[in-house]
Amino acid sequence: MKLLNGALTMYDISVMLRDVWKSYKFGSEVITVLRNVNAVFKQGEIVGIHGPSGSGKTTLLRIIAGLERPDRGDVIVSGYNLNLLDEVGLSMLRNSIVSYIPQDYGLVETLTVFENIELPLLISGVGKVSRVKNVSEIMKYMSLSGKENLRPTYLSGGERQRVAIARALVTKPSVLLADEPTANLDWSNAVKVMELFRDVRRDFNTAIVIVTHDPRILEFVDRSLNMVEGMLKEITPKPRLQ
Ligand SMILES: Nc1ncnc2c1ncn2[C@@H]1O[C@H](COP(=O)(O)OP(=O)(O)OP(=O)(O)O)[C@@H](O)[C@H]1O
Ligand SMILES: [Mg+2]
Repeated sequence: MKLLNGALTMYDISVMLRDVWKSYKFGSEVITVLRNVNAVFKQGEIVGIHGPSGSGKTTLLRIIAGLERPDRGDVIVSGYNLNLLDEVGLSMLRNSIVSYIPQDYGLVETLTVFENIELPLLISGVGKVSRVKNVSEIMKYMSLSGKENLRPTYLSGGERQRVAIARALVTKPSVLLADEPTANLDWSNAVKVMELFRDVRRDFNTAIVIVTHDPRILEFVDRSLNMVEGMLKEITPKPRLQ
């Protein structure tokens, strides 16, 4: 099926948002956070979403991850229309197709690095032999080998972020959503994390959506979108970086 510019097929599309709206109620007041959001994210592209605080960036990522439902509109992820999935379906989606890395990394401080990365596989009921193999492979890929038995509190900021990315990748998702992945890092660690996302895109053909306050981070993405008052606009089409 030919779509858009004639070259894009359904198989290239990882995420499609169609007329997505979301509001929250505060007592009698209604705050509209997302207004008529339309977007297509392709397999194997890194998209940056930039915008001021409170503009709806996290809300958008959580809706794509199936952690929240829109009031209106369609969210299609790897061919699944999220409106048609119940809670069990959404949870399966989160454990196999889409991974969300929250801004605070969401690591469990009482578990070791290995156990944190293993968690999504445990939840999905993956057997021990496969869990050990998959966790060890992704730890090596993330240059985390040797840190298996440490608790997150003993890690540097860059290492914590790499553990969060490893945990997100251990299920081999086709969509990776990262909420302010460089916000708590110094610039040299921020660059390393962005280079890592480029490696992930190259090695796994993952669609990666990165939300950021920092305009310098947009240098590392293929395409940038601006979120202003709940509306998403393309900034500049950029040639794809390899
Ligand atoms: N669960 C919720 N209940 C009520 N209001 C919410 C909820 N989640 C978000 N909001 C409101 O929606 C608006 C957008 O929030 P969101 O977290 O998506 O913004 P953001 O662009 O990620 O901001 P930041 O850059 O500060 O992280 C804010 O005004 C926020 O207060
Ligand atoms: Mg946010």
